[in-house]
Amino acid sequence: MYILGIETSCDETSAAVIEAKGRSCRILSDVVASQIETHRLYGGVVPEIASRAHIEAISAVTREALDGAAVPLSEIGAVAVTAYPGLIGALLVGVNFAKSLAFANNIPLVPVNHIKAHTAAAYFVDPALTPPFLALVVSGGHTALFDVTSDTAFHLIGTTRDDAAGEAFDKIARVMGMPYPGGVAMDALAREGNPHAIHLPSPALTGEKLDFSFSGLKTAALNFMHQKEMRGEEIPRADLAASFTEAVVSGIAEKTAEALDRTGYGTLVLAGGVAANSHLRARLTDLLAARGGKCIVPPPSLCGDNGAMVAAAGYFAYLAGERAGCELNAAAEDEPFPTAAR
Ligand code: KG4
Ligand code: ZN
Repeated sequence: MYILGIETSCDETSAAVIEAKGRSCRILSDVVASQIETHRLYGGVVPEIASRAHIEAISAVTREALDGAAVPLSEIGAVAVTAYPGLIGALLVGVNFAKSLAFANNIPLVPVNHIKAHTAAAYFVDPALTPPFLALVVSGGHTALFDVTSDTAFHLIGTTRDDAAGEAFDKIARVMGMPYPGGVAMDALAREGNPHAIHLPSPALTGEKLDFSFSGLKTAALNFMHQKEMRGEEIPRADLAASFTEAVVSGIAEKTAEALDRTGYGTLVLAGGVAANSHLRARLTDLLAARGGKCIVPPPSLCGDNGAMVAAAGYFAYLAGERAGCELNAAAEDEPFPTAAR
């Protein structure tokens, strides 16, 4: 069947058409209209500007996705849309658009959780991927470990107590003078520095829980920069980027290893915008290989927000019987994931 996926939770307006059969998902089109250039002027996403830009772009982006796939609307078997979590005004644009399209054309409507959608991007990489597996979602809004027991059942086993990894990267990058979002520039600069030059605290919280905290690491990096400035010394930018990245990557790898021990799983899905980070991809791929398991990580183009991942998550939700009616609403907050006792 063909599924149309629509994504407007943050600063990318995206629509995609995929073809799904059995457990296999294939992308026929995936159109992403990014608003990054607009938000860059303000150093971060401005919610109202994001909503307005989604309204302007959504019809043309969807038309382009259908034309690019050469699939008429009459052959679309389900419309999947990100309904939560995200910026509420931005989500409402996609949800309203998808609702109108679905009900005017008698197509089933499937609401999708954005975090599950990031994870579902892995189905494009490995058609043999079958739960249970461990999912690590690292993005601008999340840093979370999930015990995925079926294509649609996610149990939260670890999360950040404050900032997300992407937020921390973006904040430090901004203070270092890099354009928003700074994650990509930090990734490149980190390759030129010494990851052990500056000692910074780990974001992995000590203790039983599989939780993270990025605020201490962020403050330590900011203090390091202030001290250098006060002494009139130059900030060793490459070493700072490398050491900061090392702290983030090691902390995440430590808790991921613990989560693999506790679940006994040999498969990790690494997903979300920060999964595009070359250092994190390499470390977790090595970690899984050393344990005789495998790390499935989508190509960088599918790590950021896109409609194809929403369509894939929508397909499995559709198979599980999930549908929405005209009353479907968006929600800024996450769904209350059941927490597994680990
Ligand atoms: O998943 P995403 O596109 O949007 C959210 O759902 O939040 O993630 C965006 C985040 C931003 O914080 C961005 O800086 C970060 O992903 N990011 C990276 C890299 N590419 C994108 N962070 C580190 N290294 C990268 N290569
Ligand atoms: Zn995202």
